[in-house]
Amino acid sequence: MKALILVGGFGTRLRPLTLTLPKPLVEFANKPMILHQIEALVKAGVKDIILAVNYRPEVMVDILQKYEAEYGVNITFSLETEPLGTAGPLALARDILSKDDSPFFVLNSDVICDFPFEALRDFHQSHGAEGTIVATKVEDPSKYGVIVTTGGSSQIDRFVEKPVQFVGNRINAGIYVLSPSVLSRIELRPTSIEKEVFPAMAADRQLHTFDLEGFWMDVGQPKDFLTGTCLYLGSLAQKSPDLLVPQSAPYLHGGNVLVDPTARIGADCKIGPNVVIGPGVVIGDGVRLQRCVLLKGARVKDYAWIKNTIVGWHSNIGRWSRLEGVTVLGDDVTVNDEIYVNGGCVLPHKSISASITSPSIIM
Ligand code: GDD
Ligand code: MG
Repeated sequence: MKALILVGGFGTRLRPLTLTLPKPLVEFANKPMILHQIEALVKAGVKDIILAVNYRPEVMVDILQKYEAEYGVNITFSLETEPLGTAGPLALARDILSKDDSPFFVLNSDVICDFPFEALRDFHQSHGAEGTIVATKVEDPSKYGVIVTTGGSSQIDRFVEKPVQFVGNRINAGIYVLSPSVLSRIELRPTSIEKEVFPAMAADRQLHTFDLEGFWMDVGQPKDFLTGTCLYLGSLAQKSPDLLVPQSAPYLHGGNVLVDPTARIGADCKIGPNVVIGPGVVIGDGVRLQRCVLLKGARVKDYAWIKNTIVGWHSNIGRWSRLEGVTVLGDDVTVNDEIYVNGGCVLPHKSISASITSPSIIM
């Protein structure tokens, strides 16, 4: 089978991290986001993966060539000269997607869940219509695409992208399986699959929905990235607890902590719940970490206190400093000793020598 991943553009909502790496390469739970998807696709028997990109593919090519060899899969870049939206890239990749009549997967690159590709494919084949959308339930559906069905049927009556008025809370999880016939509905121009293609398919009774089990999150912005990290770690605790720090670790405080084996942790730390510590990270003594992500090479000095924060690659946090309130530090940021940062978004290579007491962008 084949899959197309909508890698897309600048990832502006995940700045400052995406000033350094394209969104798909930003590590989620110590693994590039896109690798979570590639691994799940390969496990489901996918042999051809198309990455639909319109921005800096050169940064991704080297890394993805390594994955090609490692996972025994063909990875092709499909480069747009102008952003083609969420449907146009399917037309651009028409030759590969329609090379046989088997259905193909389409994924948004910023969603994380237990990808149900095999069950999804089987369900799609069982109903025989042109498309299947994976659905999940959320409390606030306004920033998603909403799926409306009647009774207990899987057939979609209406698809409403970013509804202004409440129409339901079952939303598009950004994962589809489509039959090649859908390609005849899409022209090679900037097109939204959610606004143009899905409503038409629903009207033609050609679209079904498949309910996702377990957690789901669009991790394309910092607040959701942190929430998604908590959900993912919670799921790991159920399914593969061996990957997490064992309950016996002296610094563990509340569980669901993922630590790369090359990280070093000082004495008398309290770490957890919901913490990810990347490769080469060095943590001093007496450090308190909760609900945060420390990317590769970060250094945290003694007695620092970090919550609700993403610490960018190779950043340094000073002694007795306190970070909270959805703070995101870009690559190579220095926070001096005894500094308070509340909701700071700090661009790469900056040095912070005065406290930031309310949410602000530091350029
Ligand atoms: N190649 C390419 N070209 N990819 C694009 C383009 C483009 O012009 N524009 C967006 N994308 C990619 C994004 O990188 C992302 O992976 C995906 O398409 C969806 O775009 P987002 O910008 O993340 O959309 P959203 O999060 O507001 O809404 C979408 O995802 C929700 C689930 O998270 C929609 O599909 C909603 O219906 C859905 O509920
Ligand atoms: Mg998104």
